[in-house]
Amino acid sequence: MQSITALLFVAFCIFIITRSLVVQKSWQQWKKQASSGLGFTKSTSTVSSSTHKETLLKDTPPYIFPPIRPRTALRTSMGLRRLEVSNWLTIDKNYNPEHGLRVNLLSSHKPQVIQCLPGSEEACHEVLSLVVDFLTSRFPQHFTVTNTSEGRRIYNSLTNETFVIGQACPNPLEVAARLAMEDFTVLMKDANTGEYRLQASATLFPAGWKLQERIGMSMAKLHGPVPKWKEQLSGHVNRYFDHLTAKSSMERTNLFIQTTPDLFVDGPEMPRSPSEAAITPSDLWVRRERQIFRRLERCGAVLFTVRTYMQRLVEVEGAQVEALKTQVEGWDEDIMDYKGSKIWGETFREWCAQRGLGVEGA
Ligand code: HEM
Repeated sequence: MQSITALLFVAFCIFIITRSLVVQKSWQQWKKQASSGLGFTKSTSTVSSSTHKETLLKDTPPYIFPPIRPRTALRTSMGLRRLEVSNWLTIDKNYNPEHGLRVNLLSSHKPQVIQCLPGSEEACHEVLSLVVDFLTSRFPQHFTVTNTSEGRRIYNSLTNETFVIGQACPNPLEVAARLAMEDFTVLMKDANTGEYRLQASATLFPAGWKLQERIGMSMAKLHGPVPKWKEQLSGHVNRYFDHLTAKSSMERTNLFIQTTPDLFVDGPEMPRSPSEAAITPSDLWVRRERQIFRRLERCGAVLFTVRTYMQRLVEVEGAQVEALKTQVEGWDEDIMDYKGSKIWGETFREWCAQRGLGVEGA
């Protein structure tokens, strides 16, 4: 009996080690690809206007979003890691279709996607100036600045558009959002409470929240619906923003599962009525956000940029299935509910099971 138990134990250990090796493999592949110059750079370039550094930026290979991590950040940690600044803003094959969507949203849903409160003007100009410096340095083949008698302009060859920049630009945050694939949010510290408030935002792709309802809110209020935010994250985040410098930019990622391919989701997902067909794995999408925090040096505000990536669940393959399953399993019950697992949980569990992976709790 004892030898059977020992054998089972050894088999279990081998199973666990093999699984984690498989998950590690996709990370190693990504790192190899990255360091071989296909997606990631070890360049120490900074977002600066110095000619030497601009040259480094120009020569940086395209950014590749890293694979899904097997684990979520610890519940009490913010999950931050150092930003490779040459990858602050990204351009990839989705630029034109997403740009089209952004332009449509700005004309059909403007109050839902852009809000700038009084007092944020200087910060919004600083955002545009950083975006212009970065895009023209990193992607000079696509973005060029010209000085005309009527002022400075940026030309975007990907879309054949030109925008006025500098102090003469009447809508700097909007122009930034039209040029980049990222969303931009400005947070300003409330001198009375010491809390950071959402002062301006161009959020074209919200993950289930309404910008027009949240503008002006403190971080604590903004994160009101997030389970345990107040107890476990609020203080850390406020302190992090207090100490953020132009040189200590960080990034984090998050992950949602949703039943729509839409990038613009400005309300909670509605459960389908029982008369509708059951959700199948091909109805599910993995939504990931790459979030970056930067200090705006001139005005002192905090800049939050978000790039959203969508992938069909059924297109998640190989070791990434295991990583996704492990990450979802790591969510507490309240987080599961918050992330809508009542809608997609069963389908997700069955999909994992079909791949030989059981999911606890989803
Ligand atoms: C280090 C800073 C931050 C941390 C650690 C953080 C963390 C979180 C977490 C854990 C969630 C729950 C969903 C998820 O799993 O991602 C969330 C949701 C959210 N976050 Fe943050 N966040 C940070 C900064 C910000 C900033 C600067 C904004 C400004 C727009 C923001 C806006 C939101 C919104 C709107 C939601 C959705 C809330 C809802 O469901 O109603 N977050 N955040």
